[in-house]
Amino acid sequence: MPRFQDVMEHFPFEPEDKAPMLIRKTDYMHHIYPPNNAFTSDNNYLIVSTDTLLLGIYELAPGGSFEPIDIHPGDEMYYILEGPVVQKSNYGQYVEIQTGEGLLIPQETWHQGNNFSDHKVRILFFIAPKAWGEDVPPKVFPTADDTKTFKGRKNGQIPDVSGVQGITRMPTTDDLGRWPIDGRAARQKPSNIWRITDQDKLVTLLGNDSPMLMKFTVSTDYGHMGEMIVPPGGGKGPRCSEPTSHEGDLVLYCMEGPITVNFPERLESFIMEPEESIFVPAGEAYQLVNFDGYPVRAVFAIAPGL
Ligand SMILES: [Fe+2]
Repeated sequence: MPRFQDVMEHFPFEPEDKAPMLIRKTDYMHHIYPPNNAFTSDNNYLIVSTDTLLLGIYELAPGGSFEPIDIHPGDEMYYILEGPVVQKSNYGQYVEIQTGEGLLIPQETWHQGNNFSDHKVRILFFIAPKAWGEDVPPKVFPTADDTKTFKGRKNGQIPDVSGVQGITRMPTTDDLGRWPIDGRAARQKPSNIWRITDQDKLVTLLGNDSPMLMKFTVSTDYGHMGEMIVPPGGGKGPRCSEPTSHEGDLVLYCMEGPITVNFPERLESFIMEPEESIFVPAGEAYQLVNFDGYPVRAVFAIAPGL
């Protein structure tokens, strides 16, 4: 049986074999992380790991957190499937993120999820461009003591990130590519992590004739995450989003469905049920089609370009 560390950047296909693909829940690669210590593990499902992005789901048991704390050579973005999750950075910033909210963890910022609730929490996580590199994570991990806490013993040795401005304004469509902050500015150390509530999402529409609602949690030069929502009711036929394509690769994760995803240039379509995913390679035209009587919703992860 292949192990997740052996398929990184090659799951469920080789980068040169990219094509539209339905990835069912049973296709996700389950593992615990870290694999060598279940006592401090999260329950992890790999959906896609290719040369442009990684998308997966991790679950934390009540009262639990994962160790070692985590770091990536790319930006990481969360969409909270079931919260709340308390997320910390090593600089001592803690955010409590609720179901349906987003998080931006800039490149090379140490982070850890904590579950203080009475139920399992579930997080859709998206990392672009790379989840692991040559030097990140490093051989030696910081310990819990290296993180700033209330009255922590090493607080004086950890850089000060107080007074950093949060999200103070409504985003516009012109902020795409730098929401909630310009990516390069976000990655300067010491860095902050950014919680994106429902009110903070960058809301826009795709298409004027048959608009689809888009709610971005994060949009940086490395990647873009958010929700696509197609209402019910078309004209003569089903309500459809207008065909579009992206400069980067796209993964859709179905929240409310089923959603029919049509590839008009290929004359092919897939039905995506809740908790299933669809991979759409860069440049491939697609549209979402709603045959039901209620809004359908997918989380999208696109890297690198929109
Ligand atoms: Fe991470």
